[in-house]
Amino acid sequence: MCPYVVERWYRSGLIYSLDISLFQDSNGDGFGDLPGLTSRLDYLSRLGVNTVWLNPFNPSPRKDGGYDVTDYYSVDPKFGTLGDFVELVGQAEELGIRIMMDLVLNHTSDEHPWFRAARNPSSPYRDWYVWSEEEPPDGHGESVFPGPEQNIYTWDDEAGAWYRHYFYRFQPDLNTDHPALRDEFRKIVSYWTRLGIAGFRIDAAPFLTESRVGGEPSRDYSLLREIRETAAWLRADVAVLAEANVPVNEMLDFFGSEDGRSSRAMMMFAFRLNQAMMLALAREDARPIAKTLAELPELPGGAQWVTFLRNHDEVDLSSLSPAEREEVYAEFGPEPDMQVYDRGLRRRLACMLGGDRRRLELAYSLQLSMPGTPVIRYGDELGMGEDLSLPERESIRTPMQWTDTAHAGFTTGEPHVPVVSGGPYGYERVNVMEQRRDPNSLLNWFERILHTRRECEEIGIGDHEVVDVGVPEVLVHRASGRYGTVLFAHNLSAQPCTVSLPPQPGEENRPLTLASDTGYNGDDVDLKSLELRGYGYRWLRLTSTAADQEYPPEHQARGSAAATA
Ligand code: BGC
Repeated sequence: MCPYVVERWYRSGLIYSLDISLFQDSNGDGFGDLPGLTSRLDYLSRLGVNTVWLNPFNPSPRKDGGYDVTDYYSVDPKFGTLGDFVELVGQAEELGIRIMMDLVLNHTSDEHPWFRAARNPSSPYRDWYVWSEEEPPDGHGESVFPGPEQNIYTWDDEAGAWYRHYFYRFQPDLNTDHPALRDEFRKIVSYWTRLGIAGFRIDAAPFLTESRVGGEPSRDYSLLREIRETAAWLRADVAVLAEANVPVNEMLDFFGSEDGRSSRAMMMFAFRLNQAMMLALAREDARPIAKTLAELPELPGGAQWVTFLRNHDEVDLSSLSPAEREEVYAEFGPEPDMQVYDRGLRRRLACMLGGDRRRLELAYSLQLSMPGTPVIRYGDELGMGEDLSLPERESIRTPMQWTDTAHAGFTTGEPHVPVVSGGPYGYERVNVMEQRRDPNSLLNWFERILHTRRECEEIGIGDHEVVDVGVPEVLVHRASGRYGTVLFAHNLSAQPCTVSLPPQPGEENRPLTLASDTGYNGDDVDLKSLELRGYGYRWLRLTSTAADQEYPPEHQARGSAAATA
């Protein structure tokens, strides 16, 4: 198979991220489940999704959204059975949707039978975890969750030792150097690949590259390669996505390179770009984005960024300077209760942007035009809100809002987490049913722009170049691929402006508008004098191998800024 064909699905697709427990309940027990999700695949298909990334669905006490696994080989009974899982994969495949899952290998739950056994010093599982018989010295490392956790070592009476946990204390770190554990990882990856998983999100990837026990800390990326090879042996088109929020000079290590092609993960979340977009949106200044795009390393063949605005965690602003972070806080989360872990915001994007439809369209238009494969978090296509009365990141983990009827149509029982109700983001106002009816709804805007993006392979697979127009508030960039060139212009400020572009490829053609906010005069686009409304955006096709391709106005992915401005 030609690599280009194999890669197309993950390099030019759309990933939709969801937690099964919050999406759709099918049996009235208040928990979303696999049959519920299967029943909503048509919704995802219509939206334009080609990949569903499932947050952990293995059995778990779910003290950390399922990232505290007690059995890697099954499905949490609250979600259904393995049969339901295989049914989901099969039904999704019929619709051209692939399923990606989280692989949480840095730690287990402290209720996992391995950890229970490991408390006994003579158990073969003892060395599967990281212990210290001596009291760990001060400054031995920082918790990923400062605030809720102070230390990364906790004393265990039964084990007679301290165990290490970079995350919560109920998540003991696995000793990922241990050969028998590595063999177990290989089985886990094979198992889920054989059951139809098309991609793995490697949770907490930087921690998996740390050489674990004894000696000076060193880096070892072999586990990433082993995961990829194991999966690819069984399924040629499998994709491995690393969750690694690391400095620019470490990024390429996660992709690896052999003969110019990636040999470890083929995808990595673009954390830097996320933070740059947040800063740029907060400042109404496009320069942080242009700067970050210029700093990102060139990727090896087959590799890809995964872009996001929001995910299931906090908005992590840790790589901004303290002053920059304060700017983002001031604009998007000024109350202490909106901030978390000394580094981020526990908010949904719609609330951060004050529910301003123009800014929401601008933000997503920016994300969708960036180099990479976009991830959308469930409910963001509706502009769903948050519940700050819930602790830590739970504020953004509320049930999907399907209808304006009881519990938003999520369940007929009592939801295990309350649905957001009342106010501008409550299910009574923000729900799928209502937005389906309204042609100008955010949901319908999403559907249109996602379908437009599908026709622009250049964005995911082509080369991107920023065009300097000398206006700090405006980002103009271009994506060129084997089928043509698309140009994007985004005005991050509330003030309208006009920019003048230097000569562009395909200048002799009339640029075709693919998407824009509304209010521009006709279809005569003049690149020497390109008008942008406040928070305006324009996607213009400059060249295409299908040169006669016309986009009549009714098929353009227009926004509805004019209607709401
Ligand atoms: C996940 C978090 C989780 C943590 C521990 C992260 O990177 O995204 O949601 O709490 O890993 O597994």
